[in-house]
Amino acid sequence: MLRPVIVLMLVSFTCGENPAVQVTLTNKGLQYGKHVGAGWIQERLDHVTFPDISGTILRIIHYTLSGVTITKCDFPEPSVEFYQDITGFKTSISGLSVAVTGSWITKTGGIHDRGSFNLAIFNMDVTSVVKLGKEADGHLSVTSAHCEAQVGNVDIRFQGGASWMFQPFVKYFKGRIEGEIKASICSFVEESIVNVEYHLQAMNVSFDVGENFAFDLPLTGMPVINASSLNLGLKGEFYNMKSHTDPPFKAQPFTMPKQPGYMLSVGLSEFTLNSASYVLYSADLLQAIITDSMIPPYLHMHLNTSWMGPYIPQLPKMFPGLLMNLQVYAREVPMFSFQPGVVKLSFRGAVKAFAIQPNGTQTPLFKLNVDSQLSGKVWIAGGRLKGSVTLDNFTLTLVSSEVGTFQTDTLEHVMKAGMMLVIAKLNVELGTGVVLPRMRHAQLVNTVLGMEKGFIAISSDAELLKTDRGFN
Ligand SMILES: *[C@@H]1O[C@H](CO)[C@@H](O)[C@H](O)[C@H]1NC(C)=O
Ligand SMILES: *[C@@H]1O[C@H](CO)[C@@H](O)[C@H](O)[C@H]1NC(C)=O
Ligand SMILES: *[C@@H]1O[C@H](CO)[C@@H](O)[C@H](O)[C@H]1NC(C)=O
Ligand SMILES: *[C@@H]1O[C@H](CO)[C@@H](O)[C@H](O)[C@H]1NC(C)=O
Ligand SMILES: *[C@@H]1O[C@H](CO)[C@@H](O)[C@H](O)[C@H]1NC(C)=O
Repeated sequence: MLRPVIVLMLVSFTCGENPAVQVTLTNKGLQYGKHVGAGWIQERLDHVTFPDISGTILRIIHYTLSGVTITKCDFPEPSVEFYQDITGFKTSISGLSVAVTGSWITKTGGIHDRGSFNLAIFNMDVTSVVKLGKEADGHLSVTSAHCEAQVGNVDIRFQGGASWMFQPFVKYFKGRIEGEIKASICSFVEESIVNVEYHLQAMNVSFDVGENFAFDLPLTGMPVINASSLNLGLKGEFYNMKSHTDPPFKAQPFTMPKQPGYMLSVGLSEFTLNSASYVLYSADLLQAIITDSMIPPYLHMHLNTSWMGPYIPQLPKMFPGLLMNLQVYAREVPMFSFQPGVVKLSFRGAVKAFAIQPNGTQTPLFKLNVDSQLSGKVWIAGGRLKGSVTLDNFTLTLVSSEVGTFQTDTLEHVMKAGMMLVIAKLNVELGTGVVLPRMRHAQLVNTVLGMEKGFIAISSDAELLKTDRGFN
């Protein structure tokens, strides 16, 4: 009976952690990416220079073709698809035609000759298969798994020098040139993939947040690919760079909803917010001193012993006319819980009240536990992220008192009314919202946000912004 349990435990240990952030690229996104990538390659093709080609013909004529550059290129739209077999992508282009120009030099014995040439390559087919993977440190990796190029026909014409003499031999080295062209295409493709890989490795999988904290985003597992999407699972945990202790709770697995109508989707588990909450709590940052001057005037409250009179009658008698301070702090890690359509936050805190003596000494008065629960809604409208908050529950309980016991009901009532006023003001701000983040080269369009059990899913289309310098 025990063995299956142990095996299960081992399996759950070796399976590693659940991702708290998931990114899904749909076929729509892949096709858009391809379209943009094709434009980028087309621009780059104008600047491709082929390596010099040299050899010997008829044993005595040494030739070199140099300065080979593209003059015209018919670049049909390539096709790209998710390639499940190797966890990657398969890209093909067929019917690519290119015209190049360059110069030729021949050396026969001591005689040099030179001129120019035009070369047209017709109906090239290129297929490239790229494999995605995960490095040990959580980086995404790309490698070329396969590259194949076919050349339909080559037409080559020489001008200048004694070209009339060797043009008839073109047939002879056409095959050689075709071979060189095929190899250059695949080495260009492979170099580009290495270049992408280099950029991926240079990317950070951990981002500093302030001086002490970091947001960790390495891959938690291999990329998952099927015929319709690519899914990446990322850690998505905040941590303290000094202590680096993991929170006492784990990310729960979640399944991204299917959103094939959008280019990409990002899922964010409640774990990410809770890890931030844990980090702030552990670093003693979830506390504040509230003074009278911080109370907004619209609340009509005063943090002094006479204002407290109606709620704690003995207080103004014991400490007449003194200002007060409240030390507010979290007793437990405030936890977010994502539910369909709503996010709940439970806050278990405490308030220590002090009277400020004329000589500055703070005299402790009493301590209350404050337990509250907030509900929030988040949505996207008009390109802005908006929200609203409601106070579901607010209770005060007296823990200890230096001024004798007192009833907390009316104080609770007044405090709750105050909180609701503050939240009403906050909701005005949240209703205005913030503009969705926009990157230097891309912006999100048609963005929707859905709150599910345990996670938020944001699905969006992206629009790359073409800058003067092109995409880079
Ligand atoms: C990556 O992280 C290191 C250290 O945290 C930082 O110095 C560097 O600027 C980061 N690089 C980028 C591209 O964000
Ligand atoms: C591909 O995987 C996603 C989840 O990652 C799933 O929702 C979808 O149904 C799968 N599609 C196919 C064609 O298997
Ligand atoms: C204390 O609060 C009362 C209102 O209850 C206000 O009239 C008074 O000015 C305040 N006293 C001090 C010292 O702030
Ligand atoms: C400040 O005043 C309070 C009350 O009058 C007194 O109990 C306390 O000893 C004083 N503290 C100092 C440092 O003078
Ligand atoms: C409000 O808090 C009290 C005390 O913590 C609890 O008994 C009650 O169930 C809570 N109500 C709601 C609606 O959460």
